This record gives sequence, C-alpha cells and structure tokens, in this order.
Amino acid sequence: MKTADIRSAFLDYFRAKDHTIVPSSSLVPASDPTLLFTNSGMVQFKNVFLGSEKLPYVRAADVQRCLRAGGKHNDLDSVGYTARHHTFFEMLGNWSFGDYFKRDAIRYAWELLTVVFKLPAEKLWVTVYHTDDEAYGIWNKEMGVPAERIVRIGDNKGAPFASDNFWQMADTGPCGPCTEIFYDHGPGIAGGPPGSPDEDGDRYIEIWNLVFMQFDRAPDGTLSPLPAPCVDTGMGLERLAAVLQHVHSNYEIDLFQHLIKVAAELTNTKDLANKSLRVIADHIRACSFLIVDGVLPSNEGRGYVLRRIIRRALRHGWMLGVRGDFFWKMVKPLVEEMGGAYPELVAKQSFVEEALRTEEQRFGETLEHGMRVFDDVASKSGTTIPGEDAFRLYDTYGFPVDLTADIARERGLSMDMAGFDLAMEQQRERARAASRFEAKGQMPAELASQLKPTVFLGYEALSGQACKVVGIVRAGKQIDQLNEGEEGLVILDRTPFYAESGGQVGDTGSLSNGAGRFDVADTLKMGGVFFGHAGRWHGAQPLRTGDHVDAGVDTSRRQAIVLNHSATHLLHAALRKVLGTHVTQKGSLVAPDRLRFDFSHFKPLSREELAQIEALVNAEVRRNAEAEVRHMAYDDAIAFGAMALFGEKYGDEVRVLKMGEFSTELCGGTHVGRTGDIGLFKIVSEAGVASGVRRIEAVTGAGALAYVVDEERRLGELSHLLSSTGDDVTEKLRQLLDRQKKLERELESLRAKAAGSMTSDLASSARDVDGIKVVAARLEGLDAKALRDGVDQLKQQLSDCVIVLAGAADGRVSLVAGVHGKATGRIKAGDVVAHVAGQIEGKGGGRPDMAQGGGLDKPQLPDVLAGTVNWIDQQLAG
Ligand code: ALA
Repeated sequence: MKTADIRSAFLDYFRAKDHTIVPSSSLVPASDPTLLFTNSGMVQFKNVFLGSEKLPYVRAADVQRCLRAGGKHNDLDSVGYTARHHTFFEMLGNWSFGDYFKRDAIRYAWELLTVVFKLPAEKLWVTVYHTDDEAYGIWNKEMGVPAERIVRIGDNKGAPFASDNFWQMADTGPCGPCTEIFYDHGPGIAGGPPGSPDEDGDRYIEIWNLVFMQFDRAPDGTLSPLPAPCVDTGMGLERLAAVLQHVHSNYEIDLFQHLIKVAAELTNTKDLANKSLRVIADHIRACSFLIVDGVLPSNEGRGYVLRRIIRRALRHGWMLGVRGDFFWKMVKPLVEEMGGAYPELVAKQSFVEEALRTEEQRFGETLEHGMRVFDDVASKSGTTIPGEDAFRLYDTYGFPVDLTADIARERGLSMDMAGFDLAMEQQRERARAASRFEAKGQMPAELASQLKPTVFLGYEALSGQACKVVGIVRAGKQIDQLNEGEEGLVILDRTPFYAESGGQVGDTGSLSNGAGRFDVADTLKMGGVFFGHAGRWHGAQPLRTGDHVDAGVDTSRRQAIVLNHSATHLLHAALRKVLGTHVTQKGSLVAPDRLRFDFSHFKPLSREELAQIEALVNAEVRRNAEAEVRHMAYDDAIAFGAMALFGEKYGDEVRVLKMGEFSTELCGGTHVGRTGDIGLFKIVSEAGVASGVRRIEAVTGAGALAYVVDEERRLGELSHLLSSTGDDVTEKLRQLLDRQKKLERELESLRAKAAGSMTSDLASSARDVDGIKVVAARLEGLDAKALRDGVDQLKQQLSDCVIVLAGAADGRVSLVAGVHGKATGRIKAGDVVAHVAGQIEGKGGGRPDMAQGGGLDKPQLPDVLAGTVNWIDQQLAG
C-alpha cells in the first residue's frame, strides 16, 4: 500500500465513524508561546482540551505535519543514525472531545489495524500505564490480546507521571496516561519487547499512541483534571507505511525512496544506502514545510532551527562531494510526492526554492573554508574539538554548534560544549564592553546644564566663521583644553557639521584658528541636542574652551552623502510602488560611498523587480524636481502625506522633504537641491538580513559612474581572456564550462581506473596471516577521500582483511585503516591508525571497522608501515 493510500484509508475509516476531517495546521503553532513547533496532532486542539475553545464537532481526525527539532521533542541529532527518526513527519490522529473515551479509542485502533490494514493480531503488542486497569481490561477481555503481550509501564523516567506511558505536549498543558501499540518485526531483528532491557532494538516498534487526556499540568508540576476526559491519538505515517510495505526502515518506504533517488542523482552518489542521502531526504521535508509555514532562515528562534537544518543538509551534500547548490532542487520531487496531500506546498513551490537557494548560496561560500578549518582543528586536537574552535567555526563560518558536533561525532571525536558556551559568553561580554565604550559620546550633566543646544548651520552652509568652543569632553568628562596631538570631543555654539542621525553618517572636516587645526573624524549627537566634533588637535598652542574657530566640512564627502540620502528617499518610494505598501523602512545607512536600505519584504526581489525599481528612481532623477523642505506640525505633515517611521519619536514641529510628486517623507537629514543632482542611481546588491527583512545597497553620482566603469573594465578583461569581442562572451564561457565538465568526467573515470589498478596491485601483494590479508602501504598524492575509497575497494577484493593506507602530500600524511570479515573483533581499525600515527607525530581514531588520522611524512614511514604489518600479525595471533 502506497503512503498516499494509507493517508486516505485512515481518513476514510474515521470519516465513516462520524469524525470531522480537519486539515493539518501550520508547523508554527498559532499563538502558543510554550511551543516552538507543532510536535503532534493535538497541538491545534490544545485549547479545546482545556475547555477554553469550543468546536462545532466532538470527533475529529487528520493527518498533521509535525516537526521535532528544537524544544521538548528534538530528534534532529538522531536523523541519519537510526531507521526511524525524523525531523519532519506526518502524524495520523483521531480525537474525541468529551465524547468517546478508552473503550472506543481502543476498539477503533484495533479494528483499523487488524481489519482495514490486515495486520496479524499476533504481531501486535500493547503497553498500558501501570495503574490503568481499565485499559488493560479492554485490551485483554474485549480485544482478546493475551496477557503475555500486554505490558504495564510505570514511571520509568525518574519522577511521578514521567513515563513512556504518560504523554504530555510540553512542560505544561494537557496530559494523561496512554496506551501504545507495537508491531513485532520478528525474531530476525534484534531487540526486546517494550519495558525489557533491550527495548531500544529494532524488533518491537511503537506505531500508535492512544492518549487519554485527563489533566492540565501547571508550571509547578501539579495536575488538575480537564473539564472532560478526551482522547488524543497519534500514529506515525512513515512507521506504519514501513510495516505495511514490509520494510524495516522508514527510509525504505515509497515516499522516501523517491526522494533518496533524486538526492542520489543530484549528488552523484551510487550507494543508495548512504546515510547522508537519508539526512537530505528528511531535511528537505522539514525545510520546505517550515518555509511554507512562514519561517525563513535567520539567527534566532524558529528561523535559526531552520537554518541549522538547512546547513546540516548542505554539509551532508558536501560530504557526498557536491560543490555547488543542489538542495533547493529537491523541492520539485517533494512536491510530486506530497503536493497531493498538501496543496499549500504546491502553491509555494517557487518561493520555497528561492528561499533555500538563497541560503544555500550564502552558506556555500563559507562551508568549504569551514570544513578545511575543521579538518585542521581535528588533526591537531586529539579526541576532543576545543570549544574555542567550535566557536570560531560558528562565528566566522556560520557552522551552528550542533553541526560541528555532528561532524565530530562522525569522525569519532567529541566536542567541548562547555568551552563553546564559555567562548560564546565571552563574546557577549565583549559586545557589552563595546557598547559601554559607545558611551564615549556621553555628555557630562553639569556641562549640559550650562549650554544652549548647538545651532545647526549645515542645511544651508558647509562652513561657519568664528564659531565658539563652548565645551571640550574626553572619556565622558569635561576638560579645559586640548594639547598638541590630543583627542577629544569639541562642542561649538553653532556648526555646519551634520551629527550622525537618521542613518546619515556624521560629517568630517576641520576646525581651525591661528593656533592650529582640529581634524574632525566624525560628528555625533551628545545629550540629544549638542553636536560633538570627534577628532585630534594639532597646534603650537592648546585649543581652549572659549576660543573661536572657523569650521569647514569636507565638502565633496558631504556632497556624496547628500546624493545618497535623497536617493534613499526615492528608493523607498519606488519600493512601495513596485512591491507594495507593506514595504516599510527597517533601517538605513547613508554614507559617502553607498547607501544601504533595509525594509520589510518577505522574499528576495527578482531581477525584473530590481530593474523596475532602478528605472523608476532614475526616471525621477531625470525629472529633476526641486527638493522642497517645509516645517510644519507633525499632524499636518501626516495629513500632507508624509511617510513617518513607525516607532520613531518626532517633535511637535517636523521637517518634511518633498521631491516632486514622488516622495514625501519626514527627515532631518541633508539633501540635494534638485533630484537631477543625483546623476545616476545604481543598485549593487540585494539580500536578506533577517526573517522578512531585505537589504538593498546602491550607489549614486560619481560613485555610480565608477561602479559602471569598473564593471565595464571587468567585462573587458573577461572578453580579453576569452578572446571574445564582447558580444559573445557568455557563449564563449558556456562552451568553456561545458568542456571543463567533460574533462572532469574523463579525469574522474581515469582516476577510478588508476585507483582500481592500484588496489589490485596492493591486493596481490597482501600478506596472508592465517587466512587474513594484511596490507600497509604508502601512496603518493592521495587524499583522505581517495584513501577511503581505496580501503573500501580492498575490503571488497580481499574479504577478510586488515588494511592501512598512508597518502602522502606536501609533507603530510593522511591515514585510513579498515578491518573486515573474519578480522573483525580481533583488531580495531582505530588501534591500527593510532599505532602508525603515534610514530609519525600524528593522531587518529574512529570506528572498529574504519578509522582515519594523519601525521607527518617522515623518512621512516616505509619502515613504520613494514613494522605495522608485523604488529598486526601479532595482534591477530594474540
Ligand atoms: N499526542 C500523542 C503523541 O504525540 C498522541 O504521541
């Protein structure tokens, strides 16, 4: 029975039993702060159990998409290592809200499994909560399950009501005892029945959990009865499908086989049992549905869980040899497989692809470097990855810490989690210290009380004569004078310098008089109304409070800033025209060399949208409208149609900047006289910065021209390299890339041939010890991956063998050892690697059948390897 058919058979059964079929709810629980993700079918009914919500029906059934990654139920770390763990899965469930209770819940489950799905009754086992005699009786007397297949399970998790048979959604909320149904895969598979010491084996698998919801758990752990007893059941679709399709792993069911096949094609992997393919197949489901449900990759909360899952999938792709993007291409086959049951997935296919592709490209750039850093760290650090290095991988290369832990675990290494937490805490401390340092712009209270607010001349003028020094501040304290070479903040009674605010950076320039010159490196607001000129004094005499100076702003820098600021307003207006009025400003930086504008929008902008926005802004530039400034009351300004920033504080009187009919905004910044001054507006990048926030960077005026000229120069260089006239440069490059691909394929097949003949040479020279073949050899220029392939091939050829290969390159040696067949259990691959590595200043370790390590390519390496063969002989003999 196909997975899709199982879904519908389940719903059909309960429809016939008067259940209302409800759609799956989102993976993001609606307004439930206690839960990160929907982790079971009951989540959407939580308030119905608690009695605060009423539904027009008392029986329901559905197929709910669930995610167990992060939060109370977290299986992320197990995916790929077991046959049954998933991040995303589907839960079949039926509910009674104060209607039927234990008897019918058990009866329905039993009938569906044994009659509809025709599972042999003797293969089913059940568990009940240890005190639940009622459920025990129904199973035994009414369903006829013999006592030897009913197991009572007590509080086996170390606290009252902490039991495999007492279910709760989260630390608080609805909960109750449950009864679980298990399927016995038969004596061919290791494992014991539920409640026995080896229950974790794969023989007895839980397929259905029937919860008798009776209590609401308060944060202090006390249980109070629900208004009415309810039933909540959950059956993993993937597990049931595995049972009905007679396979032992969820990953072997039809749905996963399709995804795994595509993953294998995309990653060029032959071995369909490779665990990385499973990880990818699992993760594409989680990631796609999270995006469908409105989550986008980010650095916190749900967005970060999504990012971790994506990056974990990408790393597995990388392990399979992928060096480009591939993951987003899994969306299409997923839609083919699951779109029928989830129309929302079909509707958002291209959005999901785009979101994944963006994240893939972003991480792709650092993944390769990060992996190199990891290898480097691993080869230096023995058995534990230091926390500081894990932090560096996180901070610089975007490796979530669980990703690093996952790689470490694969290589048989552990990770210093406490050290990572410490490094993280230290960084927070540094950030706090840095923000204390920001307090350098602090205005001493006493000085503030003596001064009038600085008068700003800079809307009209870029210089001011005989401005008076009214205060000098250093490190938050007032001082009287600045001597030659000393730094400080100089406050004037009036100034043409713009102080950083509203995204526009502070001006630079100089303050001078007969005694010397104060170089202004930045201008900042102090105490809200005073303008502090930050810089250094150079003069034969000190600069003193009360002195007069001539203030001169760096005019060309200010001019460049002004163009960018006015262009920012035009960009804002154009974004709202092209994308919609949901676009609002989230942040901006107006600097001399570029402008940066962050705004709310849920998806990346297409090329067409960007082109349209750029064209619209440039059309306004050419219209050359006057930029008019008016001062008016805030309410009048809003009535006048000015855009104000939500959450920003404005005074009673505001400054309004209007450019033609196109843009009207409240703004305190400095602007052009006419829009034509901007000259040219060019977008240089567009990217996501946080969930639902995009960022555009652009250049204007001379900066835009320089950008275009630079692009042209690059194109010229490319054309030259490709001996093209310019027009056909794309075509030439395409031909070149095609050719390269062809050559790479040829090279790959030659390499495989060479490796094949190398391994047959090694195989024929293997020493035979009592029926076990032993090979220890140094090979020129092979990396760890090639060595692993070599060891795998030798295992195939020699069957019972112990192999250690040393690949030498650039003075270093990679080591890979393998133990196979009859040799297994008599010697460990990890010990073999350690034996060799110990003699060449290296380290290594791994699993008993496969291990790797590294060291230095010392002259004695051949002797070490020869000695190792003897050592292996002794080990096998002993
Ligand atoms: N809510 C129960 C579970 O998830 C049915 O197992």
